[in-house]
Amino acid sequence: MKSSTLAAVGAGLLTQTAPLAGAYAGGDDLIRVGLIGCGGRGTGAAAQALSTAGEVKLVAMGDAFGDRIKSSLAAIQNEGGPKVAARIDVPAERQFVGFDAFQKVIDSGVDLVILATPPGFRPLQFEAAVKAGKHVFMEKPVAVDAPGVRQVLAAAAEAKKKNLGVGVGLQRHHQAAYIETIKKLQDGAIGDIHTMRAYWNDRGVWVIDRQPGMSEMTYQMRNWYYFNWLCGDHICEQHIHNLDVINWLKNGYPVRASGMGGRQVRTDKKFGEIFDHHAVEFEYADGSRLFSQCRHIEGCWSSVSEHAQGTKGSSDISAGLIRMNGQPDWRYQPAKGSRPANPYQVEHDDLFASIRAGKPINEAEYGALSSMTSILGRMATYSGKVVEWKDALASEISLQPKNYNFDENPPSMPNGDGHYAIAIPGSTRVV
Ligand SMILES: NC(=O)c1ccc[n+]([C@@H]2O[C@H](COP(=O)([O-])OP(=O)(O)OC[C@H]3O[C@@H](n4cnc5c(N)ncnc54)[C@H](O)[C@@H]3O)[C@@H](O)[C@H]2O)c1
Repeated sequence: MKSSTLAAVGAGLLTQTAPLAGAYAGGDDLIRVGLIGCGGRGTGAAAQALSTAGEVKLVAMGDAFGDRIKSSLAAIQNEGGPKVAARIDVPAERQFVGFDAFQKVIDSGVDLVILATPPGFRPLQFEAAVKAGKHVFMEKPVAVDAPGVRQVLAAAAEAKKKNLGVGVGLQRHHQAAYIETIKKLQDGAIGDIHTMRAYWNDRGVWVIDRQPGMSEMTYQMRNWYYFNWLCGDHICEQHIHNLDVINWLKNGYPVRASGMGGRQVRTDKKFGEIFDHHAVEFEYADGSRLFSQCRHIEGCWSSVSEHAQGTKGSSDISAGLIRMNGQPDWRYQPAKGSRPANPYQVEHDDLFASIRAGKPINEAEYGALSSMTSILGRMATYSGKVVEWKDALASEISLQPKNYNFDENPPSMPNGDGHYAIAIPGSTRVV
């Protein structure tokens, strides 16, 4: 395993001059794609990028772990179909391993990078890609703490100046049922909206067993979901999708939040430091309230959905449904004879088409502010206090280590019995 420090990489970036990107560097029609973070989503996103219209090639891949590159490459080659397989050109010399792999991918002659690592790395990697004049597709969330959100906002503004395309993996924005339903609600279909609800209540995700001799940094990197410097807790990693839909509906962001949460069932040390449930009340500037829940506990009520109540009616936004007097009044219907398009594919189609047209879309700002909304929710449940948006966004508390290095300790280390410190509402400081 190659160990390197990002501090050194970051210092190099400051002196790098970035070319002003027109559309794509080669002056031809080909968009050269580099994948950074070759896990489940990165593999899917790469196959989707390679399925867009026009000339496109996957030319470089980078991951903290070499085995992930191999499995991802095999999956894209074998499962993406012949058109996708023909668009892969990633020889060994353009496969990069380690914490500095992202910079090597960026510097390898690509036009666009896909950022699909755990979200803790996103601000640094997005900033580096923009600095180098690359178009970006990045997965959500785009940060796990307020300094990271501010870093992404600054890079987003820079990307606009450079006319770079930036897609963010909040794919509901590219899903026809959401687009039409939200438009109707914003046009007043249910009157003034005063109450919203959003849920990601489900069972939870994988755990990788600790292997003998594994360093703590390696263990946490393999189990990134359970550590806040990497994941931000599941309120950030998953529930952002639902919170973002409500922000989109409201065309704004909450002004404050309060809530409660904890870990009731998922208490083993293997589950790191995150909660297994959060319930948050967000207040928007117009006084309307969003009641949000996210839970990772088996055997409970499951729902991944968003809803709105107005003065005239209500909506199950996720079902594309509007009700008046409790009865269905309107339901989203795909065009006759057509199947609903896969939003994961459409988000790539839209990004690549916008770049080719010379009018690149830039979703980084709402991606950053919806990430901030999830972070605000976590701050409310961890602290047990009412947390103001402006204080949360100004917070100087960074969850990141000084150096990213497999030989160094990550920010949260286990105590004597192998457990990690868990936030304690009432005493945990968040801003
Ligand atoms: N939009 C969606 O619906 C959706 C769905 C799933 C995941 N995601 C997001 O995609 C991202 C990745 O999730 P995943 O499920 O693919 O996880 P994963 O664990 O399968 O993949 C993450 C990959 O990143 C690699 N990695 C970790 N740190 C790295 C670094 N510093 N540099 C390079 N590579 C690094 C890991 O080794 C791993 O291969 C997360 O932000 C997640 O929230 C989005």
